[in-house]
Amino acid sequence: MPKISILPEDLRGKIAAGEVIERPASVIKELLENAFDAKASLIRVELQKGGLSKISVYDNGEGITAEDLKLCYLPFATSKIKKVEDLFNLKSYGFRGEALSSIAQVSRLKIVSKSKEEDLAQEIYVEFGKEKIFKPTHFNEGTLVVVEDLFANLPARRAFLKSTKVESSKNLELIRILMLTHPEVAFEVLMDGKRVYHWRGGSLKELLIYLFDLKEKSLWEITHENSLYKVHLILSGPEETFSHSKNLFFMVNKRAIRDEKLNRVFFSLLKKFYGALGFPGGIVHIEVLPSMVDFNVHPAKWEVRFRKESELYQCLEEALGLLFEKRRKSFYPEKRSQPSDHRVREDLPLEYKVSEGLSPTKGVVFEDRLRKTLLEVEEDFKILGSFKEAYILVEKEDNLFIVDHHALSERVCYDFLRKRASLTMTQSLLIPMIIKLTPEMMENLDAKLEILTQVGFELEPFGREELLVKGAPSEFAEDLKEALESLLMLPIFSKEEAKEAFIRELACLLARKKGNVLSEEEKRFLIKKMFSESLDSCPHGRPLFIRITLMELEKKLKRIL
Ligand SMILES: Nc1ncnc2c1ncn2[C@@H]1O[C@H](COP(=O)(O)OP(=O)(O)O)[C@@H](O)[C@H]1O
Ligand SMILES: [Mg+2]
Repeated sequence: MPKISILPEDLRGKIAAGEVIERPASVIKELLENAFDAKASLIRVELQKGGLSKISVYDNGEGITAEDLKLCYLPFATSKIKKVEDLFNLKSYGFRGEALSSIAQVSRLKIVSKSKEEDLAQEIYVEFGKEKIFKPTHFNEGTLVVVEDLFANLPARRAFLKSTKVESSKNLELIRILMLTHPEVAFEVLMDGKRVYHWRGGSLKELLIYLFDLKEKSLWEITHENSLYKVHLILSGPEETFSHSKNLFFMVNKRAIRDEKLNRVFFSLLKKFYGALGFPGGIVHIEVLPSMVDFNVHPAKWEVRFRKESELYQCLEEALGLLFEKRRKSFYPEKRSQPSDHRVREDLPLEYKVSEGLSPTKGVVFEDRLRKTLLEVEEDFKILGSFKEAYILVEKEDNLFIVDHHALSERVCYDFLRKRASLTMTQSLLIPMIIKLTPEMMENLDAKLEILTQVGFELEPFGREELLVKGAPSEFAEDLKEALESLLMLPIFSKEEAKEAFIRELACLLARKKGNVLSEEEKRFLIKKMFSESLDSCPHGRPLFIRITLMELEKKLKRIL
């Protein structure tokens, strides 16, 4: 007798069903996608006990004819594709023709539907894969699918499910994602008789605000395209971020996806803009010709493959850049063009003479040099004072700005360093200093030394574990050892990254700290710089200021309603 046997049909069905239908949320996904494919404009979802006892989805779409209703629950029954080529040019969510058949295998399934083409509605009832009832009935329009007792015939699978509470939260998460793919569709969602969502249809942005309680003011939107991809981003700004990425959703051609690689790439791009602030909430929607993307990678169709990945990543990066540019501009709606400022900035003096015998205080001298750049810019703000020697209070037209002086000074130093990539004055040390290298410092030491030399340090390896410091940028007259050690300790992986990290760290070291008392002139200089260059965030992505308008203030004080 052979060891191999061909599995009987009902077992085959159960195995296949297991791939598509893992839990109640998978059923909901398939049913909602069918409703979208049927062009519904209204969908009503009702769940009992996390979907384990009942899932019911009604849609007002085109419905199923009597003839098709007889077929739809059979394996590979689909109206959406006919030939192999169609697989590579998908315009519908469904195409595998296995959702209803899988659901039918593992539940009691009832479908009531009236097609727009027919006068009479039909009902079919299938119990764990076996058709029990098929009869004409009365029904207005559209399709109602009811799934009861999921996995009752597969106790082992049912045992893998989590508590009703956990399944409910997975269901809700999924419903939200799918609602986002079709914000124009009206949705009603009931869980154990309680209405959870009642959405009348609207724009994607309105829906994001409705579902996640995001503030309209903090949401930023941009659409950007290149020859292959069109990217639409709606993201919350650095003032409204989350410690996790759960409120950030990805869609490709209106299809919700969860793709590891795309996530990884996008998250690393986000770092550039959000720094250590965490993740924004919102949507990343990618549009691409159906022939350029493959959705047939995963049975539940969560993953995708793009034909030209690097073009996509580039498009995403550009879109993020533009989004932040737009955001920056909008902080300064009242900004007038200031040609004189730009001109002055261009001829920034390269040379800066440190007078002999002067022991410069770091930061101040550095900014002194910059100060010359802003000589003749007209002032249209008033400095009201400082709060806790950490925040500068500024009046400008009808706005009160509360500015973080450390963050602003850090930003100013950072921009300067980036432009020059070197601190121009190196001061030689009379007696060279020796720094003992720790293992962390020795990692990628060559790259570190190269960049430190570029920014004006004179360093020489000394023996195996020591470094001779012969000269340093004049800004480091004080705390030289400490500053250099903290720079050398930075973990870096590549040269580009090192440069960026060093500049950021240098800016932080040079910047004025919380509690430092700033002179009136220094405050004026910093604020002038902030306004004239529309600066709004520090190198780590934190906002530089809070702006309160007169109107907001009066509303808070109940002077106006
Ligand atoms: N809500 C619905 N409205 C109209 N037709 C539907 C609906 N649900 C299923 N169908 C029909 O049943 C077929 C089988 O559905 P399904 O098993 O999900 O496979 P697929 O969506 O991959 O085609 C679909 O191709 C479609 O013709
Ligand atoms: Mg389907």
